[in-house]
Amino acid sequence: MTIRQTGRTPGETRELEVRPRGGVPSARRGPQQRMADWVEERVGLAAFNRKYGRKAFPVHTTFFLGEMALFSFVILVLTGAYLGLIYVPSSDPITIGGEDLPAAYASVRLIESIPVANLLRNVHHWASHLMIISIVLHSLRIYFTGTYRKPRELNWAIGVVLLGLSLMAGFVGYSLPYDSYAVTATGIGYGIARSIPFVGHIAADLFFGGAFPSFGSVPRLYTIHVFIVPAIMTAVMGLHLVLVIKQKHTQPGYARRLAEPGKVLGVPLWPYQAILAGVLLMLMFGVLFLLGALVPPHPLEAYGPPGPANTAVKPDWYVLWIYGFLKLIPASVNFSVAGSTFGPNFFGGLVFPAIVLGLLTLAPWLDSTNRKATRNYEYLEPPRQSPMRMAIGTGVLVYILMLFVAAYYDEIGLNVGLTWLLTIAVPLVTGAAVFLWGKRVARYREEDFDPRTVDTPATGDQPATEATPAD
Ligand code: HEM
Repeated sequence: MTIRQTGRTPGETRELEVRPRGGVPSARRGPQQRMADWVEERVGLAAFNRKYGRKAFPVHTTFFLGEMALFSFVILVLTGAYLGLIYVPSSDPITIGGEDLPAAYASVRLIESIPVANLLRNVHHWASHLMIISIVLHSLRIYFTGTYRKPRELNWAIGVVLLGLSLMAGFVGYSLPYDSYAVTATGIGYGIARSIPFVGHIAADLFFGGAFPSFGSVPRLYTIHVFIVPAIMTAVMGLHLVLVIKQKHTQPGYARRLAEPGKVLGVPLWPYQAILAGVLLMLMFGVLFLLGALVPPHPLEAYGPPGPANTAVKPDWYVLWIYGFLKLIPASVNFSVAGSTFGPNFFGGLVFPAIVLGLLTLAPWLDSTNRKATRNYEYLEPPRQSPMRMAIGTGVLVYILMLFVAAYYDEIGLNVGLTWLLTIAVPLVTGAAVFLWGKRVARYREEDFDPRTVDTPATGDQPATEATPAD
């Protein structure tokens, strides 16, 4: 319908086309459009997209590492849910083909015999490794570029909790197939838990459902693996990501030249970042399925059900450093206080990893540049710009690698004394070399890059609108 409107000045008229609310008359709209409008009026997706879909994601490959950790977790939950349909969380004996086998062991043998289930079990196995690798690389990126500093100290500490929880999930998952290998490896953990002075037996009984292995163990470890740890991780990850959104991403150095202070330069969440994330997820599925099909974990028959024979085991690589350190502690490190024993298992298996994770948590507070910080650190600092951080980081990494060597020292012809010497000397020499190289390179640098903001906007006061190349 067209109506005529009279203007303010005499003789001025305008013709206006009047349409019913919602644009095209409903009779002329197709069923799809009507359905979309119906949903829109109730859910308000367009407003949601206007508010969150424009959130900018910085363009830098290392920013996918956190997403890889997240997607690995999702893949673990999906494949784990499927495995849970077949797995029997019990070590009660059942008779199969005339043989008495623990129910958990027998159920994993059943999974192995169903091609799809076996493939998904292998994908679950590899996704756990991929998750821990992604988390380690993600933390290294943050450490070496100094982005754990103000205002992200708390999120760094929350990240260390996620790292600890992931290691625990992996360790507990190891026990579930309940073959001889799993039971021996988990038994090492039980021994460590028992070694806590004064409260060890209570702590071990709580975690392992009584003595290990006993009938209480598998149901307890299963509940910890499929419910308690994933539920805590989901909550902690949520907090971690909310803080990332609230504080915004740090950005690669080039953004400093191109974006206004306080704005993030990057691609918008919808649709570009979502497409990139989708591609990453598909790639991860591809790699995990290939690994699952071509490089399966050891078949259960290789070690058989738990028995009296002593199985030679080493824990998986992500806890191998703890095992390596344990192997280096002499049995003579053993004393009693008030009737409780402080032994090698306690110092190597608990005190040592607690010190490592504790120091990692405190990194933002130990960094002297952060203690003096008045402005926020919003850009990735080129690693070589901080020789001390680079030297400490490399030294610690080499130390962990040397502990992997320590885990095998007797098998590769070293003795304890030499292994001790190497685990201390090699990281120190590497760290010192990196430090001197960093100092030398600094002499030829004309100007250092300042990774801080120009002013000190409180994070919450930053403008909601963000610059993107599409703007
Ligand atoms: C399950 C484990 C984890 C998941 C799923 C996760 C996920 C993420 C994601 C998606 C981001 C945003 C993109 C990025 O910066 O990569 C992020 C940022 C961050 N993460 Fe994690 N993360 C995990 C573990 C950790 C760990 C172990 C640490 C440190 C020890 C950590 C510290 C941080 C910090 C400080 C940021 C902000 C970095 C910045 O803006 O530059 N995260 N995380």
